[in-house]
Amino acid sequence: MDQTEINAGSTGDGARVVLEEAVRRLDATPRRVAVIAADPALVRAGRDGGARLVVGIERTGRRAALEAAGADVVLTDVSQLDLGVLRCDPWTLAYEGFDPAHEGHREALTTLGNGYLGTRGAAPESHDDGVHYPGTYLAGVYNRLTSTVQGRKVEDEHIVNVPNWLVLDLRIGDGPWWSEGGLTAAAERRELDLRRGVLEREVQLTDTAGRGLRLAQRRLVSMHRPHLAALETTVAPQGWSGVLGVRSGIDAGVVNANVTEYAGLADRHLTEVTARRPDPGVLVVQALTGQSRIAVATAARTVVTDATHTWSVPDDTDGRFADRIDVDVVAGRSARIDKTVAVVSSRDRAISTPVQGALDELARAPVDVAGLLAAHEAAWARLWSRFHVRLHADRDAQLVLHLHLFHLLQAVGPHSADLDSGVPARGLHGEGYRGHVFWDELFVLPVMTMHMPEVSAALIEYRWRRLGAARQAAAQEGLTGALFPWQSGSDGREETPAQLFNVRSRRWMPDHSSRQRHVGLAVAYNAWQYFGSTGDTAWLARRGAELIVEVARLFSGLAEYDPDDGRFHIAGVAGPDEYHDGYPGAPGAGVRDNAYTNVLAAWVCRRAGDALLALAGHDCDELVDRLGIRADEQTRWAQLGRRLAVPFHADGVISQFDGYEALAELEWDRYRATYGNIGRLDLILEAEGDSTNRYKLAKQADVLMLVYLLGPAQLIDLLRDMGHSVTPDTVPRTVRYYLQRTAHGSTLSRVVHASVLAHTDTTRAWAMFRDALVADLDDTQGGTTREGIHLGAMAGTIDIVTRSFAGLRLRDSALTFDPRLPVDLHHVDFEVRHRGQRIAVSLDHERLLLESCPCAAAPPVTVTVAGRDMTLEEGHTLEVALPRTGSGDLLGTPLVSPATSPDDSDR
Ligand code: BGC
Repeated sequence: MDQTEINAGSTGDGARVVLEEAVRRLDATPRRVAVIAADPALVRAGRDGGARLVVGIERTGRRAALEAAGADVVLTDVSQLDLGVLRCDPWTLAYEGFDPAHEGHREALTTLGNGYLGTRGAAPESHDDGVHYPGTYLAGVYNRLTSTVQGRKVEDEHIVNVPNWLVLDLRIGDGPWWSEGGLTAAAERRELDLRRGVLEREVQLTDTAGRGLRLAQRRLVSMHRPHLAALETTVAPQGWSGVLGVRSGIDAGVVNANVTEYAGLADRHLTEVTARRPDPGVLVVQALTGQSRIAVATAARTVVTDATHTWSVPDDTDGRFADRIDVDVVAGRSARIDKTVAVVSSRDRAISTPVQGALDELARAPVDVAGLLAAHEAAWARLWSRFHVRLHADRDAQLVLHLHLFHLLQAVGPHSADLDSGVPARGLHGEGYRGHVFWDELFVLPVMTMHMPEVSAALIEYRWRRLGAARQAAAQEGLTGALFPWQSGSDGREETPAQLFNVRSRRWMPDHSSRQRHVGLAVAYNAWQYFGSTGDTAWLARRGAELIVEVARLFSGLAEYDPDDGRFHIAGVAGPDEYHDGYPGAPGAGVRDNAYTNVLAAWVCRRAGDALLALAGHDCDELVDRLGIRADEQTRWAQLGRRLAVPFHADGVISQFDGYEALAELEWDRYRATYGNIGRLDLILEAEGDSTNRYKLAKQADVLMLVYLLGPAQLIDLLRDMGHSVTPDTVPRTVRYYLQRTAHGSTLSRVVHASVLAHTDTTRAWAMFRDALVADLDDTQGGTTREGIHLGAMAGTIDIVTRSFAGLRLRDSALTFDPRLPVDLHHVDFEVRHRGQRIAVSLDHERLLLESCPCAAAPPVTVTVAGRDMTLEEGHTLEVALPRTGSGDLLGTPLVSPATSPDDSDR
């Protein structure tokens, strides 16, 4: 640590200890480091003093000031400091050195996947040892296990950690294996190339006798052929010649052990493991999931080039199968080991058996990584040309946006269109939330629909196929319609665990989050957006309208009319804010008239009517007949659309639910001072013997979700139409009120707040957006990223740019723009697909340019900018001059007048 200088500044001695420990663990080149607390003057001093890395610590929203003073990175807690992360190129996430404290997090962020399968960026020689966690997951492959929790039997469904195909171990001569400590790694560098979807690694290895070996690895999970993955290893002995032992295999002995909180649960999902070696160098392993009986076959072919080699007796133990190869290596000369893998499961189509399918895929695959690379890169290039959102802002923002798009497309990409799987909240990147599907598609599908609508259709299909389970869930509560579960897995039943382990109190707490009945509202919202974007009436008749109608039916049944106020009320629910699952003293019983649920339910009831109107003359009669839609039901939906109750505080702020205003104020400053990160107030208060239900607080955006989804103007219109006297000021005041009372215990929360702030204060919106961006990169949720990325928040940050900063929304079939670019965001470019047109959008503070690609038979699109309608023909261009707005702009400020009429703007 000779050259490393540690200045803990005003973060105090605790920070110094953490930092010293971080530097000690990091085996990279020592750097001069300065850690400065939330004081820009100290940051500047560190910068001016020549520190190589200046770290700002902020807990009070002063990121911008710390950055302006010269902080290279701004974190909310010193424990987030990963000294090895390099952020110098907007397309590369690089890590130098090895740091056990951050390895799990790095593995999740360097996961490779293609929507069908995802494999964490774990080192091939590693196994689950508390630091490393190799994990591979297949979309939609779940299994149920029974565990004993507090003396009671509980059954849970989990995404399955399938056999680890990465296994590749080395040793020099007959010394101990690398995985057993026989080789020591130094100067390790890993680079994730986001443009090409390739993970590269370089390591300097030394054995106990001091012999050196340079190792370079690269791997991919093919975006072109979803069943294929590959790992290429190149070795070069330094100053010695001899035998290099290689173990290349498949580990089917893996269990689900990625999440510490689940340590008490049963974890072995794979049974009946069999292995075969049909050809030299080819190994195929099949495992069966115990309860769901899904067969997963993994076939691997290992090929050695540029060195003579001999195969020796395989090393097969405890479900772990490995071929053994002795490679004759020569000083200064490289040898290469290519491992190509095919994964096929019994859920796949066009196969005879999974084993045969995997072997066939392998037989059709090129022999090496290089052979797979060109088509894989081309597939990524096609995706980037559709999805790329180019920002002219600071370097980090673009890098993180690339990272988020990259992981979004790896979790739900083009191959999802052929699968029956939903939007897993944590991607195919880890086992957090047991791999379940929540309402997060509300944040994911808008992005998909805009760029690749067929994937949205497939993800909505996941819900449509589970309508049977949702109807049954409604019927069990004496209701009609469809009650979609809060957590969903294989067959659409409610998967929310009954209890949640509190790591603070070491107690199990009841989990009442399934009181959130609003998942169906998200499903219906997405269905309507998809229809708006594609105009596909055949799809609406077959799929979308059925979902919307069944959700409207559910809320119609939940609503009770109160003649005293002439309104319908919905009781017994929880909103997106899970910290209120009931009133004080009645946990779990739900609350009455959650504003988010009621307003969105009213919106959906209106859309049910609109869907039938949109189908008039098409398949409306068939739909009405198939679903048995009665006239009185339609009348009731129309009534609910106008008369569902929405609670307000005395001063006109929209209330989160009836009675929220009477709750106690939390002492936010005291809690922040005591606990630092107070995102998980539910755990903190429970450990104190208290309850979140008592306070005016929120885990995440709840009422503000309405502004996020509908936009201020549509929300105001809707509330007025529902008979509430609201003014344009209602929204900014409601936003201010909840901004002060939100703990951001979910990564989704800052996404929504940033989006909402874009309407009132673009500078704060940009600051909040930057905070939302780093949630996974800096692992700001207290170490949860190692259990998988937060997919909804990743997609949400992309959505903020298009929906909020560029101000792009759908209004019926029209594209509307209300740009709100923050000062620090100079320029944005992206492409949108709408009703058959491909439109390149380019926006800065002065003008909006829309260029439609020539495409046969795409009808004209109505584009509305600040209330003015224009028509965009395929192959034409529209350019609109924008007046400068600056930050702090108010809602509804008129923005533009068209610079050119649609007619004279032709190219
Ligand atoms: C949030 C939910 C979200 C879930 C999965 C929870 O922490 O409160 O809104 O759906 O995470 O991402």
